[in-house]
Amino acid sequence: MDVAFLYRTLKGMHVLKPLVFRRTPICYCIAWKTKTQRTYQTFCDALIYRKHGPYSEVLKLERIPIPQIDRDDIHVRMLAAPINPADINMIQGTWRTEAVCKANEVIPVANDISVISAATLSVNPCTAYRMLKDFVTLRPGDTVIQNGANSGVGQAVIQICASFGVNTINIIRDRSNLNEMVKKLQSLGANYVITEDMLQKEEMANLFKVVERPKLALNCVGGSSAGNLFYHLKDGSTMVTYGGMSRKPTPLPAKALIFKNIKICGFWMTQWKRNHLHDLTKLTMMVSDLTEMIRRGQLSEPSCTKVPFYDFSKALQATMESYSNKHVLIMN
Ligand SMILES: NC(=O)c1ccc[n+]([C@@H]2O[C@H](COP(=O)([O-])OP(=O)(O)OC[C@H]3O[C@@H](n4cnc5c(N)ncnc54)[C@H](OP(=O)(O)O)[C@@H]3O)[C@@H](O)[C@H]2O)c1
Repeated sequence: MDVAFLYRTLKGMHVLKPLVFRRTPICYCIAWKTKTQRTYQTFCDALIYRKHGPYSEVLKLERIPIPQIDRDDIHVRMLAAPINPADINMIQGTWRTEAVCKANEVIPVANDISVISAATLSVNPCTAYRMLKDFVTLRPGDTVIQNGANSGVGQAVIQICASFGVNTINIIRDRSNLNEMVKKLQSLGANYVITEDMLQKEEMANLFKVVERPKLALNCVGGSSAGNLFYHLKDGSTMVTYGGMSRKPTPLPAKALIFKNIKICGFWMTQWKRNHLHDLTKLTMMVSDLTEMIRRGQLSEPSCTKVPFYDFSKALQATMESYSNKHVLIMN
């Protein structure tokens, strides 16, 4: 595409940075290289770590220079960026107020959806979308089972499945506000919400008298939770692991592997994006499908706590606590 045309298209638009920063934020295109001098500010605030370690020790708010923009760069102002579990593991995120990047490495997103929907779109809903599209063919009436069902990804799985007419069995940890959480997930379209303990009980057999056994399991917890998901799958089904929140290895029952011929796969959105670097068509189509779902009211903003950028420390601390809400840093 003609670079000048791309700049004109992006100027003033909301854009997602799909490739350069791992945790894609939502930002606003504010400048591109012209023959005249740049007129915008030359420094921005950024959360930076210079060595690995506990985030409270290594992550610092710094005033850093914004690189000069070159011919095919654009200058973007960040609007909001979620704190995802993987960010804490990596201490790597797009937690800064401005950035310069290649114009052909961003994709425009609609600015008639909320900033929170846009900021969280490219990680969790895209992960849910790919896992539901790329591993098995799902038809209305089929069933998907998932653990960590109240996570950002889990909430997107529930809503995308509901829009396909696919049933979901959603596993969550027991908690003091269990009823509230069950109601919340049901309001998103969850068919069944079950605790980890319940998943191991014999009564589960009764559930499969009224709903098909799952042909797809989505596992972001690992440990015994993943083994229990596996146990309930139908013959020839697939289990996709995309996270390991319990930090425990997954025991897989040999009987189910041998006699049910269940496939075990992994998924990593970052790798998927790298694999599609040469051609952004599939990424653009996915973002457009998800945006349409948001517009139709089929995919709501994840429930989250909005935190001003400069209170990042509180937000990171809260993210590390059990049963915490997702936190999104608001930059402007
Ligand atoms: N592979 C990929 O491309 C990809 C992309 C996006 C996300 N992910 C992974 O998906 C998972 C969810 O991410 P997210 O951003 O959606 O998360 P999130 O909204 O921050 O939610 C975190 C989830 O993890 C659960 N959890 C936390 N500690 C746990 C533990 N010790 N045992 C069991 N469950 C635990 C929480 O349950 P409680 O409410 O009970 O605490 C909650 O359901 C993470 O593992 C993340 O790394 C992977």
